[in-house]
Amino acid sequence: MLATHDDRITSAVERLGSENAFEVLARARQLEAQGRRVVHMEIGEPDFDTPEHIKKAAVEALYDSHTHYTPSAGIPLLRATIAEYASRFRHISPVYTAENVVVGPGAKPIIWNVLSALLNPGDDFIYFDPAYPAYASCSSYLQANVHAIPLLESRNWRMDLDELETRVSKKTKALVINSPHNPTGGVLTRGDLERIAEMAQRHDFLVIADEIYSRNFYLDSDYLSIAALDGMRDRTIIVDGFSKAYAMTGWRLGYAILPEALAKVVTLFNNNTFSCVTGFVQMAGVAALTGPDEPVRRMNETFRQRRDRLVAGLNDIDGLSCTLPEGAFYAFPNAMAITHDDKALAKFLLEEGGVACGGGSSFGAAGKGYLRFSYAASIEDIDWALKQIATVLPQFNG
Ligand SMILES: Cc1ncc(COP(=O)(O)O)c(C=O)c1O
Repeated sequence: MLATHDDRITSAVERLGSENAFEVLARARQLEAQGRRVVHMEIGEPDFDTPEHIKKAAVEALYDSHTHYTPSAGIPLLRATIAEYASRFRHISPVYTAENVVVGPGAKPIIWNVLSALLNPGDDFIYFDPAYPAYASCSSYLQANVHAIPLLESRNWRMDLDELETRVSKKTKALVINSPHNPTGGVLTRGDLERIAEMAQRHDFLVIADEIYSRNFYLDSDYLSIAALDGMRDRTIIVDGFSKAYAMTGWRLGYAILPEALAKVVTLFNNNTFSCVTGFVQMAGVAALTGPDEPVRRMNETFRQRRDRLVAGLNDIDGLSCTLPEGAFYAFPNAMAITHDDKALAKFLLEEGGVACGGGSSFGAAGKGYLRFSYAASIEDIDWALKQIATVLPQFNG
């Protein structure tokens, strides 16, 4: 008989969360293996192929033997390229230098290492709800004193800043924001960012700005980073990466931009966990940032068309209502007229309709009664999914 080993596992494991999207994906693949048609709207990855010039750069780097260990903070060329790109794209002054950049195998491990570098047990840490699960998981693991600020559907999924005002204090160590936002597609306005910046300076806390969707942005104005506001460059930690903008999820490449002293500590965590990032993948990252930007803009335009189609279609279905996302590639419809049990509804849509999506409560308590659809699917698949939802939904009795 196999031992369960339960008594050997650290109790800290109970504080870890996980990304439910991967579980939905596994079930969707099982159904497909049985011959069922499934439209994948559960997982947050672009369905496009990585642009050709990026692949080519990786292959060339592989043949140039970029196949050895690299520095734990990332290769100097990629760090310098990221510093230049990020300063230009975000209008940062004074510009960032390579010393401000720490590279990791995806933004997710970088989030883990940044929080590990900052949070002592009992430190006040503020994030938002619903949210990408990594923040709650890591900060709870580290035994921080966590505060989740609701995002409000009535504010087009922007943070409740009055609530934030009541939770910040001199004890606050760091606040995370994520604009555009997973899972809702919400974007913070200049006014929101200015108010958050004022609180950060008044109470002397750091802002972790997860800007991984900064290139998946549908407003006509330029993207605005909180790091560009007065007094914020040196108290902001930008988290970004290549997964979403360049359709490079499987390459595993992300980074943080932060004050040099903190960069050194995050580098120490890199050194102790994954050591370094694959050399030829980093060279592909250099090509992504220095090569033509047109593929990024083309993908974004396609996402915008899909967003319009999906959101209009969802709003046409009885019982669902959906705000218009301003960034990222997720729609987050309200299904409360049908049920508050979003996970049961998501399961039903997959099993009965072949539409894979996420239950909103997988992203936090404030997501209860919502669904998350990733529109990384073709217009044909989106149309089919909408038809399936409209057909099977009246049979749901959860
Ligand atoms: C808000 C947010 N941050 C970070 C990540 C991590 O991305 P990666 O680890 O692929 O760079 C994701 C991925 O879904 C995300 O949605």
